[in-house]
Amino acid sequence: TRELDAVECGFLVLGSGIAGLYAAHTASRFWGDVVVLTKRGIDDTATERAQGGIAAAVGPSDSPVLHYEDTLKAGADLCDPDAVKILVTEGPARIEELIELGARFDRANGRLDLTREGAHTRRRILHAAGDATGAEIQRVLSAAVRANPRIKVLEGHFVVDLLVSRGVCWGVLVWDSTAGKLRVFRSRIVVVATGGAGQVYRDTTNPPVVTGDGIALAYRAGAEVMDMEFIQFHPTVLNLKGAPRFLISEAVRGEGGLLLNSRGERFMPRYHPLAELAPRDVVVRAILKELAADGSESVYLSLAHLDPEKVRERFPTITQRLKSYGLDLARDLIPVAPAAHYFMGGVKTGIHGETNIKGLYACGETACAGVHGANRLASNSLLDGLVFGGMIVEHARFFLPEPVENHAAGEGLEPLTGADIAALRTELQSLMQEHVGPVRTAAGLEAILRRFEEWEWLRGREVRTPEAMEFRNMFDVAELIAEAALMRTESRGGHYRTDYPESKPRWRKHIILRRQV
Ligand code: SIN
Repeated sequence: TRELDAVECGFLVLGSGIAGLYAAHTASRFWGDVVVLTKRGIDDTATERAQGGIAAAVGPSDSPVLHYEDTLKAGADLCDPDAVKILVTEGPARIEELIELGARFDRANGRLDLTREGAHTRRRILHAAGDATGAEIQRVLSAAVRANPRIKVLEGHFVVDLLVSRGVCWGVLVWDSTAGKLRVFRSRIVVVATGGAGQVYRDTTNPPVVTGDGIALAYRAGAEVMDMEFIQFHPTVLNLKGAPRFLISEAVRGEGGLLLNSRGERFMPRYHPLAELAPRDVVVRAILKELAADGSESVYLSLAHLDPEKVRERFPTITQRLKSYGLDLARDLIPVAPAAHYFMGGVKTGIHGETNIKGLYACGETACAGVHGANRLASNSLLDGLVFGGMIVEHARFFLPEPVENHAAGEGLEPLTGADIAALRTELQSLMQEHVGPVRTAAGLEAILRRFEEWEWLRGREVRTPEAMEFRNMFDVAELIAEAALMRTESRGGHYRTDYPESKPRWRKHIILRRQV
């Protein structure tokens, strides 16, 4: 093997969603050589798809204290109160900064127009272009980062592994698909912000790039991961044969949308006093019960009792998308069913994104600072990426690790022979959907872990294509989710076991997993 080309940088960010770009933007005040690596294009992110909005206590009858209480309640006794305090108190200032950068949030009579979503006691969700909030934030941050001479964005760069020596992360090994070669990026600060891992499920709202890369990279390098069993399923995702699963924002229910079963009955009031705006896990399980009762595949969102013009104006993206399938959001029954949406768990961090590996930080959906507990409050995730993406710099400035001796050698990538990666990916997604979905049992979890053992030979192979590397990351993350879900013999938030349907006080604790390296 030969010594690889190396690029030196001061602050290296993996991922280009809200958390990664905001971390890079903030870091550029202190570092002149910030690099952002992203495996596809800068805007190929889950942030770009976010609809409902970004939560912050900016309304006249709201306060960070109320936002704090709602977040803790949704988190089912598993949030870190200090982290939540930072989220809700820093949130409004970070939003103000986004506005200064050019984000155009919707306004009514000159004031920010705030909507409601599940389990919020106040209207506190800011939105942009109706239901295209994430696209607006991505537009603003991508433009800010591209225009900044202190930041370089490199697209088409797939990180193969983190490089760690003696407990210090000193860089990353990268497959540069634009040049068709392996390269090393050396940096004393590495920030993992590659999002969650929705693609480990067959049905997900996440774009195809969301394959758990950052969580898997950090875990393989010896970082602790926490709360992996808590997955949030979104209740209302379009369920049309032949069409991709497409999110129908919770804000649709926030503005009065109702859920009907296949007999046309409104069912949510039977399950929870907040009805359609109950916490997501409650709505998901209610929908699954209704589906099981008569063997149907979808329940229906109905907005026919609302002013059709207002509906179309408030939700232009959803209206347009549904129109392409011949459906009218304002008048028709829209078939929906739950799909994997958000990972509460991830790389365990402190409030500044610091991990147990020096020089390695994580933020956004990749990270688990404890703000979401067992169940995230709607629209707190964009806020999480923004607030904690910014916090990293405050730590990294003062705790630069000592340089460690390092070197990396390697050859190009070669195909992984003897395995049909596309078939394995499909099987993994189906198995996760069946056994580690919104409802779990010991038997199902044991079955999937047995199957995973048969795939063990796939690990430890040196030669990989980007497809095989993605699969390896999905496999690592899927196994962690199934293992943690089997360990937690109770139900709480985004983890529900039919064999242990109650929450137990003794389980008011976290499952932290760390690979021995
Ligand atoms: C939505 O628009 O329903 C998504 C909001 C979220 O996941 O926080």
